[in-house]
Amino acid sequence: MIEMQRVGCGFVTRREIGRHLELNGWVNRRRDHGGLVFIDLRDRDGLTQVVFDPENAAAFEPAHTLRHEDVIRVRGVVRARPSGTENPRLATGEVELEALELQVLSRSETPPFPVNLDEDVDEGLRLKYRYLDLRRPRLVRNLTVRHRFIKAVRDYFDAQGFLEIETPILIKPTPEGARDYLVPARLSRGQFYALPQSPQILKQLSMVSGLGRYMQIARCFRDEDSRSDRQPEFTQIDVEMSFVDQEDVMRVMESMMIETFEKTLDVTLEKPFARLSFAEAMRRFGSDKPDLRFDLELADAGEIFAGSEFAVFKGVLEAGGAVIALRWPGGGSSSRREFDAMVERAKEHGAKGLVWIALGADGVKSPMAKFLDEPRLERLRAATGAQSGDAILIVADRTASAQSVAGKLRLDVADRAGLRDPKRFAFCWVYDFPLFELDEETGRWTFTHHPFTSPAPGHEEMMERDPANARALHYDMVLNGVELGSGSIRITTPELQSRVFHALGMGDEEIQERFGFLLEAFKFGVPPMGGMALGVDRIVQTMVGESSIRDVIAFPKNQQGRDLMLDAPSRVPKPNLDELGLRLVGEQQP
Ligand code: AMO
Ligand code: AMP
Repeated sequence: MIEMQRVGCGFVTRREIGRHLELNGWVNRRRDHGGLVFIDLRDRDGLTQVVFDPENAAAFEPAHTLRHEDVIRVRGVVRARPSGTENPRLATGEVELEALELQVLSRSETPPFPVNLDEDVDEGLRLKYRYLDLRRPRLVRNLTVRHRFIKAVRDYFDAQGFLEIETPILIKPTPEGARDYLVPARLSRGQFYALPQSPQILKQLSMVSGLGRYMQIARCFRDEDSRSDRQPEFTQIDVEMSFVDQEDVMRVMESMMIETFEKTLDVTLEKPFARLSFAEAMRRFGSDKPDLRFDLELADAGEIFAGSEFAVFKGVLEAGGAVIALRWPGGGSSSRREFDAMVERAKEHGAKGLVWIALGADGVKSPMAKFLDEPRLERLRAATGAQSGDAILIVADRTASAQSVAGKLRLDVADRAGLRDPKRFAFCWVYDFPLFELDEETGRWTFTHHPFTSPAPGHEEMMERDPANARALHYDMVLNGVELGSGSIRITTPELQSRVFHALGMGDEEIQERFGFLLEAFKFGVPPMGGMALGVDRIVQTMVGESSIRDVIAFPKNQQGRDLMLDAPSRVPKPNLDELGLRLVGEQQP
């Protein structure tokens, strides 16, 4: 018997010429050509061309019946492809397998969408047949990058003396600003576990234990609406360290990213990462997650329009608001309709209106032209950097709103001008965040990060006196305009922790019930601690340049939080509900 070696379909190269190999895989394509049958055989790693010759009837006859997605085993000899028939786009393109034996292991029906073409397919169909979708090279590549990245992350933290500690999934609500997924407890009727929105409290308690350096590739669950960068269930690189300050955490996390990007993608990131305070990020870029791949900055045009008779700006400035201007590179030749569309866009972002100024080849045009004298125009040009051929966009509003609208328009004009290079990685840190933010719905103060975040030194007293201006030891890592992760230095005394809970409107009883165990733990010797969590899915999404987070997750949920393949969530039979002491109301009754 000839010694057969089993090789992956992506790994057959010139070195194998003359060798006997066994390949297993899926029929990607069959072509009958010049009396021969050609099969492209596919597995996770690639394709190899297999040739069936009629002289070898035992293999040739069944080869004729093969259809795409059939699973086969072929044994044969590797040979060079005849000159002129090589395929330079394939890693295996210089060779082919001359089939000697063929075994059909499984037949496939016609799949609901072509697996072997890189075509756009309806996402619902892709998610329903995710196991077929995952046969496609793009998703295989994404999962491979994800695997390599997570491996590199674990290696990094291992070398730095971190312990990976698994924290439980059935816990008590951990507030991170979303709704909880609740799980009814059969053995404690009428009571519920919550799935972790993050392991935040548990990692802090592991510091109280003295475990010192914790990390976990942690699954988190948040019942919030899905978006292109959000899933109800996602993965964090979760980290906590004892005896550290903000600088220490940032240093560890930054070098982790530099090392893992290098190992995963073979890219060298620019270091150190840029750093911006929250206030500076808002002022210069109108966002707490600025995209720094392009240097377009917002310009405060308040002084330029001081004394202007233009009613809108005058009103806003008199009320203490801001007038913010922004260059639209190449926007000067836009049509009236394009400017109208930009005004609409601004309104979608929450603007009350938008003034545009076109610096076109045929002169300056603007709906506020009669209020624009030459000196003001000159100062606007200088402040925004706009030149002939560009446009200037101006929004006026309360400062925070004007900044945020201008920040979103900044991304819109960058998209239109092609400034957001998908191949670049522009990291930055944003720090010095406000401790609290106003919840628009309830009108109450809520935490910006989570309630365990320490106020900045000297800002403790402001929590009650001036909550709007209290700042926190909270930092975010941002990449290309995406928040990859957040972290903070934690509160470690029961007194301060209780004050924060109170500032958030909680009463003593509620605090005791929800967080009594934490306040108690703080009585038994607590090291100073800080940490951070980075979103794996978002990082990998940026690494591979996918527009949807779903494309870097093997089995994701759709926008409605459903798993279309498993058809989950689903109804449960009445006896299961009875056992849990649950009764459904209304029409959902089983
Ligand atoms: P935070 O809530 O900011 O911080 O979450 C950290 C990071 O997790 C990712 N992330 C998500 N990714 C996908 N889908 C979601 N629904 C989703 N929600 C969050 C983001 C985000 O930046 N315990 C703190 C961290 C700490 O203080 O140490 C926390 O969870 O990339
Ligand atoms: P109005 O007085 O509402 O007709 O607006 C006059 C012009 O100013 C229009 O071009 C509006 O789009 C623009 N505008 C209105 N409100 C604002 C605002 N808050 N910021 C910038 N431009 C505005």
